[in-house]
Amino acid sequence: MANSVKTFLKQAGKDYQNQSVNPPLIRASTIIFKSMQAIKKTQKKYQRNPLSKNFDYGRKGTSTTYELQKLLRKIENCYQVYLTPTGFGAVFLAVISVVRPGDEIIITDSVYSPTRLLTEDYLKNFNIKTKFYDPKNLNDLKQKITKKTKLIFVENPGSNTFEFQDLKKIIAIAKKNKILTALDNTWGTPYLIKPIELGFDMSIVSATKYYSGHSDVMGGTLAINKKVFKKVELSQKVTGLRLSPDDAYLIMRGIRTLDIRLEKHQQNALKISKFLSKQKSVVDIFYPFKKNTNQYKLWKKYYSGASGLMGIKILSKNKNSVIRFVNRLKLFAHGYSWGGFESLALYQDKLALGKRSFTKLHNNEHIIRLHIGLEDPNDLIADIKQAIKSIK
Ligand SMILES: Cc1ncc(COP(=O)(O)O)c(C=O)c1O
Repeated sequence: MANSVKTFLKQAGKDYQNQSVNPPLIRASTIIFKSMQAIKKTQKKYQRNPLSKNFDYGRKGTSTTYELQKLLRKIENCYQVYLTPTGFGAVFLAVISVVRPGDEIIITDSVYSPTRLLTEDYLKNFNIKTKFYDPKNLNDLKQKITKKTKLIFVENPGSNTFEFQDLKKIIAIAKKNKILTALDNTWGTPYLIKPIELGFDMSIVSATKYYSGHSDVMGGTLAINKKVFKKVELSQKVTGLRLSPDDAYLIMRGIRTLDIRLEKHQQNALKISKFLSKQKSVVDIFYPFKKNTNQYKLWKKYYSGASGLMGIKILSKNKNSVIRFVNRLKLFAHGYSWGGFESLALYQDKLALGKRSFTKLHNNEHIIRLHIGLEDPNDLIADIKQAIKSIK
């Protein structure tokens, strides 16, 4: 990429033929051709170059989805990107493309809990076994590898507790044992870290979050290298996973400002982390802001910045008072998902954290997930200040 990614995100997809700054929204189930020969020509083009504009049916895409794929291929610096109707669809596509009955998967213990449900519970029915490793101890990962291990699935940082891991070490362990790797990169996006360049075989982003950025669309992306292309291409064909052109259009619109939004999310989150670190009831902040900590160093080693999602640990014998704190926040809405322009807060109870082996929470410890939005950070701080008094 000759220009910086900031410039690229503003310039990509200009359509002089239609005199439009943005690629037009093309909705189509039937893709029409002028002759049978023209259909055959497109199909042959696909056989020669599967990355070409080759669709002959709406399920394979239209020029709107193609333009988004093209943009993402550049910012991911990867071989191909698949678009799925949700982020979780991209997780599903990555996993089922590469595992078969009898195989084993190893996953970060603090993984997004639906990913755990998919692998540990659902894929068990297909004789696929899943083990979970401690994200703070790569020896644990090493010890869990067997001859049957086919995939190491990493989420970095982990959900809710936000552990950063030494990614190059994980890739080296996987390569040494001829195991494929996938990273859930929803927190960082390829604006902050490029997983395929780093050596991962597959990388997932929930486009619902920062790509869209406006809390009004769902989508997912799976970036891959050439090694897994045939497997993922086939799985995508047979699962029928497809992003609608309308949603692709909105994601393209959101992604234009990904860089600016992420930088402001980080600025605001840093300011709020510093404020929170001075609060008596806040005993831990899961966000890379404190230099010289191991977590900060691991983040700094791989990321060019941070997003706006963090966790805080509160110490209180009175759980209801912690929930009252969350309820009292006026500028932070309470809801799942994140990555939009707005701030959000959630009390994450044991159910929300999911079945974990390595997150030890005592009865008087509570986790709150905060998404720091693009509001004026001083207003957010004032809001937290008035609400945090509830904690007893
Ligand atoms: C880390 C992570 N991965 C994947 C997903 C799934 O994305 P979606 O909600 O778009 O299906 C989420 C959603 O919260 C997530 O937090």
